[in-house]
Amino acid sequence: MNRAAVKMAEVDAVLQFRMSQPFDSDEIFQFADICAGPGGFTEYLLWRNRAQDGRGPRAKGFGLTLRGECDFRLNDMLMGAPEFFYPYYGPTDQSHGDIYLEDNMLGFRDLIMANTANLGVHLVTADGGFSVEGQENIQEIRSKQLYLCQALTAMLVLRSGGSFLCKLFDIFTEFSAGLMYLLYLAFDQFALFKPATSRPANSERYVICRGYRKQQSESIVQYLLLVNAEINLLKVEAVHLPQSERQDVQGLVSLDVLKADRAFSDYLTESNDTLGRMQIVGLSKIHHFYDNPGMKDTRQEDTRTECLQFWGIPDEKRGEKVLGKENPTVLISQLIGEGNMSKLLPPDASSSAKSVTADSLEKNPDFSPYEQRAIACGEVNKEVMLLYSRGNGSVLVYKPAEREAWTAPDSKSAAQRAPIPRETLLLALSVSQLKPPSYKLRVACLQILDCPILQGQNLTDKPLSDRLACIRQLCYCANFERVPLRSRLQPPVIFPVYELPSDSADSFKKLVQVQKIKGSVKPMPMLKQEDGYLFAIKGLYLFRVTRDPWRLTMSQKANKLYYFHKEGKALTCFESRPEFLPNYRQQVESMMWVDYESANDKELDVKRLLQLVDKKLNSKRN
Ligand SMILES: C[S@@+](CC[C@H](N)C(=O)[O-])C[C@H]1O[C@@H](n2cnc3c(N)ncnc32)[C@H](O)[C@@H]1O
Repeated sequence: MNRAAVKMAEVDAVLQFRMSQPFDSDEIFQFADICAGPGGFTEYLLWRNRAQDGRGPRAKGFGLTLRGECDFRLNDMLMGAPEFFYPYYGPTDQSHGDIYLEDNMLGFRDLIMANTANLGVHLVTADGGFSVEGQENIQEIRSKQLYLCQALTAMLVLRSGGSFLCKLFDIFTEFSAGLMYLLYLAFDQFALFKPATSRPANSERYVICRGYRKQQSESIVQYLLLVNAEINLLKVEAVHLPQSERQDVQGLVSLDVLKADRAFSDYLTESNDTLGRMQIVGLSKIHHFYDNPGMKDTRQEDTRTECLQFWGIPDEKRGEKVLGKENPTVLISQLIGEGNMSKLLPPDASSSAKSVTADSLEKNPDFSPYEQRAIACGEVNKEVMLLYSRGNGSVLVYKPAEREAWTAPDSKSAAQRAPIPRETLLLALSVSQLKPPSYKLRVACLQILDCPILQGQNLTDKPLSDRLACIRQLCYCANFERVPLRSRLQPPVIFPVYELPSDSADSFKKLVQVQKIKGSVKPMPMLKQEDGYLFAIKGLYLFRVTRDPWRLTMSQKANKLYYFHKEGKALTCFESRPEFLPNYRQQVESMMWVDYESANDKELDVKRLLQLVDKKLNSKRN
């Protein structure tokens, strides 16, 4: 992490890590990082909320910064997953990311609202600055529009109750003091803070605001938009005027009003005095060291270790775990102890494997609808693949139906632009989906069937419910609405097989609608997902949710599912226990493909499966 990221870590630690957390622990933390290139704050926030301890990732972010040499450097982001971050520069391809432009601020707000169900983000961080070499004494004046636009953008994109962290320099002018007063009014809590990691001799400090009063702040937002428009106008006019005739906005709130609020004005004066004194001490220390070149501060190493501990940052070199160009098989086998990739794929995915017939399934006494689940698939089993991400868009594909080797995805595959974080292995299908509400736009999508490795974590021994929770978090963090060029990630759509024939409103039968869609020759069975997207269903992947010798069936008496030992050796049990559940390999081994529709009578298809399930259920009931 860069120096700025460590500053962010310090502020977060001082606030008991509440800056980097959502309001509820099961929410995904959403943040905006503005004036933020190369992206150290973002890297810290994504790292703090990375997938770990068997949980999925818990943060996603949006960025606005100037293009050019200080732009985000997402490819250098080694500690956080850049796939969970979207850098925005403005509404057109030519937009440059300048926060002074109203269109950029409003476009950023619209993007964030479209992605947060109109709520806004939990945190806005702003760290804007530019070189003022030779004009250090008027850095505050030169930065006034930056102060204003950062505060304004924060108020446009924050959710109610959200927090704002913003870098400032001096706060001596009426303009800066007035802006601080407006922030003081717009938030429940307001503080000025100079982190220990900020150079002691300079004027840098941060304003920390918590508890955004969104509804009460609408008039402040409108006022700041007007002021910014005025500043932009005056800048255009100034080009044609001599220096002495140029005008500027001098203040935002009348000095009398500021002074009348004693709590605020005393706090600001006290903060300015304290930080001023600290700067004087810092400067005199520099002077002293300059005069005594041999002098050393022997406490630095200990202080560093103590600080890292307090900030919860491991004392490691950044990016020590950078992956080279090794074959994914080697990396996967190191992590999960399995070097045979076909063991991580369903047995019938290989080109030579035969599908189950309707007859054989009917005669199989071990096939119980109660312990089978079905994943609705938008592509056939021979297209199932493993995807391994090395990060930075480098995704490799292993398809048993083709050559048994890792290859780059072909140009039409959704794997091409899939936002998969590094060191992640997915079992997936590449499909296309129709986007709501018009259902005219086709979107490339990866249907994730399972996830054995997530951001370097071995999930193969976790139960399916944990892996599914991880996959949902991964999809939520990686998918961005209104963002071109990225493939969508979709969690598996799973139905209990014993409920497949049911006619209830949200049952499989009701969700599949046969309809004619643009580009298809004949009407297609389309399945609508929870998020409203539609895909053409090609079949179901069935799998077992128990592991031998444990089985699952329905107690007719209690009308509840229960587990039992298949040789009747142990007690039956209504609650699930870890030993009843398959691990990833056992589960994948039990996978069985069913085509949606087959012309051949002998082959199993969904219609015959539903009949068979009905028959099995009825025979159990009678
Ligand atoms: C000190 S750097 C930010 C460092 C960052 N927080 C990090 O952790 O890496 C200041 C940033 O402000 C950006 N900036 C300055 N003026 C800006 C403007 N008008 N609009 C958008 N970004 C601006 C610069 O381009 C630069 O990326």
